[in-house]
Amino acid sequence: MSFRIQPTPVARPNRCQLFGPGSRPAIFEKMAASAADVINLDLEDSVAPTDKDSARANIIEAIGDIDWGTKTLSVRINGLDTPYWYRDVVGLLEKAGDRLDQIMIPKVGCGADLYAVDALVTAVERAKGRTKPIKFEVIIESAAGIAHVEEIAAGSPRLEAMSLGAADFAASMGMATTGIGGTQENYYMAREGQKYWSDPWHWAQAAIVAACRTHGVLPVDGPFGDFSDDEGFRAQALRSATLGMVGKWAIHPKQVALANEVFTPSETAVAEAREILDAMEQAKAKGEGATVYKGRLVDIASIKQAEVIVKQSEMIATST
Ligand code: COA
Ligand code: MG
Repeated sequence: MSFRIQPTPVARPNRCQLFGPGSRPAIFEKMAASAADVINLDLEDSVAPTDKDSARANIIEAIGDIDWGTKTLSVRINGLDTPYWYRDVVGLLEKAGDRLDQIMIPKVGCGADLYAVDALVTAVERAKGRTKPIKFEVIIESAAGIAHVEEIAAGSPRLEAMSLGAADFAASMGMATTGIGGTQENYYMAREGQKYWSDPWHWAQAAIVAACRTHGVLPVDGPFGDFSDDEGFRAQALRSATLGMVGKWAIHPKQVALANEVFTPSETAVAEAREILDAMEQAKAKGEGATVYKGRLVDIASIKQAEVIVKQSEMIATST
């Protein structure tokens, strides 16, 4: 390993981020009562241009009025290419109470996007004497975003999480699909009359995970649009978890339990990880760096792999 130690991301559960339009305040209480770890109140693409001001006012009021429990409370602002975003930042930072934890910046294209928002946030925080610094999360959902993903991950000390936004990403990349995440019927290998579907989101997810892990940011999988397809959601989420992502968005309340299930290490996985740690303790006592567990090699790297699972499980157990 390089002498620079990989930074540890913030220790908080982020298994599911539940979204809801800021223009639909009737669902805010339901969002607060859900089992999602993170709430994303939206000012961006689920809110019509004519509703931007009223949605912002709804959100500012709800941040103080509703009991959000121990959830991470985040508001998605409008993109930096719109006339709305500075009002979102100034309005939230001037008027919303300290319960607000994060703002989510959509469609980031370079590190300077974070710098710009950071400068405005910092100025308003100082002017208002806010003592709790607002954290950032970002969405990678454009060609520029994925091309500059590492500089974005390093873009601000406020940054805690980064999501892949499949729909805008597909549009920006010119991908021939209207599906939001999941299997794409034309992305397959063929052999002897059989189709084998591949995962067109895989490389972008892996790039995001690498950038995030390099800079101590939580990598998160974004939306799965077909909320009637539980099997498809679960399959996508399992692939994301296997690649190193810590959670996934829910764009409908029925997806919350699915995400929580996939991104909470199973009892079987935790038990196996603990057995590997025990096997390695015994190996160490004998002065060995490698041993056999259930017929397969485990060595010092296996300790780190097992610790990922055990630590994630313990962090979730102590904070939920
Ligand atoms: N959070 C919490 N509760 C929600 C909810 C949400 N995002 N969306 C719907 N509900 C509630 C409904 O109010 C309804 O409650 P009830 O049983 O008490 O009446 C229940 O869940 C079932 O809702 P349903 O009728 O199936 O959905 P809908 O037609 O009301 O809404 C969507 C469907 C997709 C429009 C809505 O879920 C939504 O706006 N999702 C978020 C979209 C978003 O924020 N997109 C931006 C990120 S990609
Ligand atoms: Mg988007």
